[in-house]
Amino acid sequence: MLRISVIGTGYLGATHAAGMAELGFEVLGVDNNPAKAAALSAGQVPFHEPGLPELLAGHVAGGRLRFGTSLVEAAEFADVHFLCVGTPPGVNGAADLSQLYSALEGLVPHLTRNCLIVGKSTVPVGTAEALTARIAELAPEGISVDLAWNPEFLREGHAVYDTLHPNRLVFGVTTPDAEWALRQVYATPIAAGSPVVITNMPTAELIKVSANAFLATKISFINAMAELCDLTGADVTLLADALGHDDRIGRKFLGAGLGYGGGCLPKDVRALIARATELGAGESVEFLRDIDAINLRRRERVVEETLALLGGGHRPSGRVGVLGAAFKPLSDDVRDSPALDVARRLHAAGVDVTVFDPAATVPARAVAPQLVFAATAAAALHEADVVLHLTEWREFRELDPAFLRTVARGRVLIDARNTLDPEPWLAAGWDFRAMGRLVESRAASAPRVAPVVTAYPKPPVVPRQLAAPSPLTRLRARVRRTA
Ligand code: UGA
Repeated sequence: MLRISVIGTGYLGATHAAGMAELGFEVLGVDNNPAKAAALSAGQVPFHEPGLPELLAGHVAGGRLRFGTSLVEAAEFADVHFLCVGTPPGVNGAADLSQLYSALEGLVPHLTRNCLIVGKSTVPVGTAEALTARIAELAPEGISVDLAWNPEFLREGHAVYDTLHPNRLVFGVTTPDAEWALRQVYATPIAAGSPVVITNMPTAELIKVSANAFLATKISFINAMAELCDLTGADVTLLADALGHDDRIGRKFLGAGLGYGGGCLPKDVRALIARATELGAGESVEFLRDIDAINLRRRERVVEETLALLGGGHRPSGRVGVLGAAFKPLSDDVRDSPALDVARRLHAAGVDVTVFDPAATVPARAVAPQLVFAATAAAALHEADVVLHLTEWREFRELDPAFLRTVARGRVLIDARNTLDPEPWLAAGWDFRAMGRLVESRAASAPRVAPVVTAYPKPPVVPRQLAAPSPLTRLRARVRRTA
């Protein structure tokens, strides 16, 4: 059986390593951060991902999965090496590929037998070709090293399921041997029905970024409609439901609200713009600049509305209780988190901000130490003048609005994720506000649509005596004459 190394053990790599062990392979995970490798070796997952701690600890204990820091060991151990290192944003939004190059430089010179290196990291189109050239320079004499691109589509919060049941497998390959090896690695999901797309490497690279750019486009599209809904008294949630019934459109990723964040969508949209511009095709993706701008406007809108509620001007005063810090529920990832961005901006404007998140307090505090973090939702809302619901954790839907009314000072709640049920909040006396969604008690004060006057221009008035007789009048006249 093939032996596998996974290089880079962040959200993607740690999950992939555990998933490969679950599929029956012997796996070595390698990370250049000794603390991370040590935690994983002890069966501990240093981030929040449902189901992963159990899977990982089980395979570490069973001996099929281990972690270390040595690329030399990986070079000697594995037949297939997965590259799962980060490609964070660099200059002008372009992806920084330095971790990929240093992984290859640490691995390839030490290879002792023919092998396949598989890129999983998200990269600008053309990266694999450049890496192939670098591998050729680094490979020891007589060792054949193949490169393939196998992008990852897992969603944080559902990473274990997505790894074991991929909704598609994309193999960017240049040799039949590479395809054969990838089919061996993924034999179980392929047998279970995961579709496989075999293609060249540029296509595989582009599939990944275009998938994320399309998801971002869907979200910004519905958020642009939410802006119109707010102006006209229409309801974006019902609008999205109606659009979603058309299965050419679909309801998924039409959740209007605070917009997208995380380590992937925002970065990949900007990296695609940067790469297309570099290729002289900036115009082809010009629309993505609007997608990004619409997304950022959502955060701005919540900040502005909150500051206006707190007196606006240069000296807003008051307390804001924030529900959520992670970029989405079921994750403790705060990379480009819309929730944390809003909290930070309010704090920078002089507002007293207290945040509660069920899982992301530690990483959020590390990047935003200026904020106050509470241990419970009620503590975050203590004496708050305004409450912001910024990450749609399930537990926030189960809060007791009547109790929270006794805790907070003010009564305005902004549901920036459009996922709370307004009824119990309204019944408890909250001034419930949403993002493009029409809430019953506010319907009366919702803006009235400016009447459309130009859609159906009235026909010009024709003087009666000049009007041509209608066919019916003519027919009647003829009947009269013949009578
Ligand atoms: C995304 C993709 O969905 C994965 O397929 C991909 O593998 C991954 O990036 C990656 O490139 O590694 P992820 O970053 O985990 O996954 O998050 P998503 O579930 O896509 O959500 C992204 C953001 O969009 C979140 O902030 C979420 O709150 C927001 N969102 C999502 C909305 O605002 N509205 C929606 O309707 C859906």
